[in-house]
Amino acid sequence: MLAGKRILLIIAGGIAAYKSLDLIRRLRERGAAVRCVLTRAGAQFVTPLAVASLSEEKVYDDLFSLTDESEMGHIRLSREADLVVVAPATADLLGKMAAGLADDLASTALLATDKPVLIAPTMNVMMWAHPAVQANVATLAARGVRRVGPGAGELACGETGSGRMAEPLQIVAAIEDFFAETASRPLAGRRAIVTSGPTREPLDPVRYIANRSSGKQGHAVAAALARAGADTVLVSGPSAEPDPAGVTLVRVETAREMLAACLQALPADIAVCAAAVVDWRPAEVATSKLKKNGPAAPLVMVENPDILATLAAAGNGRPALVVGFAAETDAVVEYARAKLARKGCDWILANDVSPATGTFGGDHNTVHLVSADAVEDWPRLTKRAVAERLVDRIAEHFDR
Ligand code: CTP
Repeated sequence: MLAGKRILLIIAGGIAAYKSLDLIRRLRERGAAVRCVLTRAGAQFVTPLAVASLSEEKVYDDLFSLTDESEMGHIRLSREADLVVVAPATADLLGKMAAGLADDLASTALLATDKPVLIAPTMNVMMWAHPAVQANVATLAARGVRRVGPGAGELACGETGSGRMAEPLQIVAAIEDFFAETASRPLAGRRAIVTSGPTREPLDPVRYIANRSSGKQGHAVAAALARAGADTVLVSGPSAEPDPAGVTLVRVETAREMLAACLQALPADIAVCAAAVVDWRPAEVATSKLKKNGPAAPLVMVENPDILATLAAAGNGRPALVVGFAAETDAVVEYARAKLARKGCDWILANDVSPATGTFGGDHNTVHLVSADAVEDWPRLTKRAVAERLVDRIAEHFDR
C-alpha cells in the first residue's frame, strides 16, 4: 500500500525523535520514499547523518540555504509529497502550525503545503493537558489535520501520563489508513454540483410544460460523486428517484430556480449538468386557472437560461471541470462536438435517446464521452455504471 508513496517527514525537537529513525526504516521497508526536514531542535536529538542514511535522501534543515532554495524550494518540498507527517510534533511546532507562523523550514513547509498532514504529538503530560496545547490541537483538527497518539505511559521526563509519541508501527498504520481512505475516496476535498431531472415551467396554477426525464442518470452521478468523497450538491427538478445518500439535495421546479440554486452552490471544482432543462417557458404565467371557454389563446414562449453554458462561463468562479449531457437522436457525436463548443464545457456525455434505445426513463444508457480532442465510445451500461465510469474519469482528471 505504501509502495511509491512520497512522505515528507518533519522531525521536530523531542526526545521521541529517535523513534522517527525507526519510522523512516519502516516506511522505506514498505516501499515509501521518505524525504526529511529536521528542525534545529530536532538535530539536537538525532543527527542529520542518521536521518540521511536511513532515508537515503538529502536532509533539509535550513530555510535560508541558498543552494537548497535553488535546488528545491520549500514550496516544492512541501508539495512534492503525498502526505506530510510531523513526528515528533512538539508543543512548539503545533503552536506554530495553529497560529500560521513560518520562521524555519519546518513551519514554512507546513504553511506552504497543499497536502494532507498527519501529526504524532509528544510532550510532557502537563504540557499536553495544557489548554493552550489542547486548543491548538483542536484548531488543527478542525482544519483537517490528522493525528495519531499521543499514548499514555512513562515519559522520558520521568513523569507518567499522556504524552508519549505513538510507536513507529502505529504511525505506519495511521499512514496506511490515510492512503486506504484516499484510494477509495479520490475526490475527497472536492466540491461538485449536479443537476438532475426535468424542469417544470408553469402555465397556470395547475398546468406546466415538462419532459420525460426521470432524473435517474443525474441522481446516479451525484451518488457516485459522493461515494468518491466529493462534497456534492444535487439540484434536482421533480423526480421520483430516491434521495441519494450523502448529498445535499436542493429541490427546484423551474429552469430559473435551477440556475439560481447552482449559482448559490458555487464555488465548486466539478459541475455535471444532467438535467433535461425545458428550453422554453411560457412568457406569462396565469395567476388563476386558464378556462377553456373561448378560442385557444396562442402560447407565447421565451427562452430559459442555459445552466450548463452559464456555469461554463462563470469566469473566476467557473468549476475546473464542467460536464454536460447531450441527448441526441442522430449524428450523436457530431452534434455533441458542436454543443461542447457552443456551451463552453469541457466534456459532453452524448447519449443516444432515439426511441429504440429506451434511454428516457430506462435503466440503461449508451454514451460517448466527447472532449475537445477525443471521443470515447462506452458500451451500453446501466445508468449507475455510466455514473461510476464518469466519476473514475473525473478522479483521473484531477489526479493528473
Ligand atoms: N442544459 C442546461 N440548461 C438548459 C438547456 C440545457 O443546463 N437550458 C444542459 C443539459 O443539462 C445538458 C446540456 O445542456 O447537459 C445539453 O442539453 P440538450 O437538451 O441536449 O441541449 P440543448 O441546448 O437543449 O440543445 P438542443 O435541444 O438544440 O439539442
